[in-house]
Amino acid sequence: MVVAIVASVPSFLLASSVSHASSTSSLFFTKLRSSAGLRLSFAVAPLCSRRAKFMAHSLASANLGFTQPANIEHPKIAFAAKEVDVGEWKGDMLAVGVTEKDMTKDENSKFENSILKKLDGLLGGLLAEASSEEDFTGKTGQSTVLRFPGLGSKRVGLIGLGKPASSPAAFCGLGESVAAAAKTAQANSVAVVLASSEGLSNESKLGIASAIASGTVLGIHEDNRYKTESKKPQLKSVDILGLGTGPELEKKLKYAQDVSSAVVFGRELVNSPANVLTPVALAAEASKIASSYSDVLSANILTAEQCKELKMGSYLGVAAASDNPPHFIHLCYKPPSGPIKSKLALVGKGLTFDSGGYNIKTGPGCSIDVMKIDMGGSAAVLGAAKALGQIKPPGVEVHFIVASCENMISGTGMRPGDILTASNGKTIEVNNTDAEGRLTLADALVYACNQGVEKIVDLATLTGACIVALGPSIAGVFTPSDELAKEVFEASEISGEKFWRMPLEESYWESMKSGVADMVNTGGRPGGAITAALFLKQFVDEKVQWMHIDLAGPVWNEKKRVATGFGVSTLVEWVLKNSS
Ligand code: BES
Ligand code: MN
Ligand code: ZN
Repeated sequence: MVVAIVASVPSFLLASSVSHASSTSSLFFTKLRSSAGLRLSFAVAPLCSRRAKFMAHSLASANLGFTQPANIEHPKIAFAAKEVDVGEWKGDMLAVGVTEKDMTKDENSKFENSILKKLDGLLGGLLAEASSEEDFTGKTGQSTVLRFPGLGSKRVGLIGLGKPASSPAAFCGLGESVAAAAKTAQANSVAVVLASSEGLSNESKLGIASAIASGTVLGIHEDNRYKTESKKPQLKSVDILGLGTGPELEKKLKYAQDVSSAVVFGRELVNSPANVLTPVALAAEASKIASSYSDVLSANILTAEQCKELKMGSYLGVAAASDNPPHFIHLCYKPPSGPIKSKLALVGKGLTFDSGGYNIKTGPGCSIDVMKIDMGGSAAVLGAAKALGQIKPPGVEVHFIVASCENMISGTGMRPGDILTASNGKTIEVNNTDAEGRLTLADALVYACNQGVEKIVDLATLTGACIVALGPSIAGVFTPSDELAKEVFEASEISGEKFWRMPLEESYWESMKSGVADMVNTGGRPGGAITAALFLKQFVDEKVQWMHIDLAGPVWNEKKRVATGFGVSTLVEWVLKNSS
């Protein structure tokens, strides 16, 4: 649930935004400047006139306070694993997951599958008849809901699973179809059962039950915070039948809920428009997570002034044009007790809006109208923080880092051709102000390395080139470490999110050479996602295992025009792999 904006922003954040609103300049840390020039840049107007300027800015800004997200609670769905006979179960809808094979019938046109046979028997043959009339064959994506009198359940839903031996993604899809059917039927109580669950190991039953639960939560979720009229979802309880019972399964279902509510949180962050979700509002959301799980999470929000002290010239260069001041977010997870065996960092790109800057996004396909999604990496990172705050894994310390700002255009903004100096001392000639994400990540990665972590995963809506390469639903993975790649791909097997490893082709660094600085920030169009990753590599300690994930495609569902919450569940799985 994303609330916030200025009204609920902690006062310490507001105070900082007032005092630093007009003082960032892209050239602060450029070696080429004299020290006198440096001091001059810091000599800003007295407080009263700065405050006046800030007030004028806030009045001029697009958010006059009229747009506020409604505080819509998502009531928790109660999941329970039960061993109840399908004929005995009472409620609004009994949903049966059916493979194509389960639909085979014998010579008398009767189901061979025992669960379907039993239901059909109770219904006097109507299930077989109705399903063939509806052309239901069990293919993936097919579903049909039938209303019968005379059964404990008001309705029977048949939901196609396609081929047997399905993946977690397929069972997540089953949950989503159950949610869709429940919405249409306005069902309060639903049971889910697989037509064939015999022969499944305990382990796979746990995985299937939790995938169904996650899919149901994600399928039910609709972001109606900005709609004046919306229907409340009715679904209150989901019983999972035939996959076992007991504390292990209950724990797994709770875990699924923790993760999926964090995915919902991530989606809502990304859906939030840039006039509401400014860097200060994102920082407030992060602080709120930390205070909700204060036994394991702590927050440190750095103001522009503090970032200047750390010489984050690359990040502050991007922030310089905006009236909404930057906020550098650092949350830290420490387990409630016991020794720490591994230290990790999750770094997310947090551009609350990307106009392109002076290299403004123009022309068809530039997608400037959806550039509120440019904080999708940070949404994944903060979503993971929220989930881990609830799960509390032992043996692992995790740093969540976001250099949040807005890429805008103004007289104080960086120009094409400016040279920025990052906090590791490296200089960057900005040959394109629209390649801003890597500039913010440069300082965030240096900061992450300074936390003494062994592994870093960064996530960023970094390049359109990655969408061209992999399409809208697969994220690009870049890492020199086969070991880290293996860990993250194993995590993605469980989460069901799609990743593809891309090459970090060192010879392409040639196109990133500058005549006057250590590097430029963009190479040519060819291999644009690769040169972006090579740029990031310049800011990572060689001793640290590092992975960059470009999720420009999968963060956004273009068809539905809503965020997906991509990345949260894979990150949580990966952190758990590194816990003890
Ligand atoms: N935020 C964009 C990348 C992006 C594009 C994300 C489409 C989501 C959807 C990024 O900052 C950007 O503008 N990248 C440029 C890089 C180019 C200037 C080298 C791009 O991809 O065009
Ligand atoms: Mn850009
Ligand atoms: Zn961007």
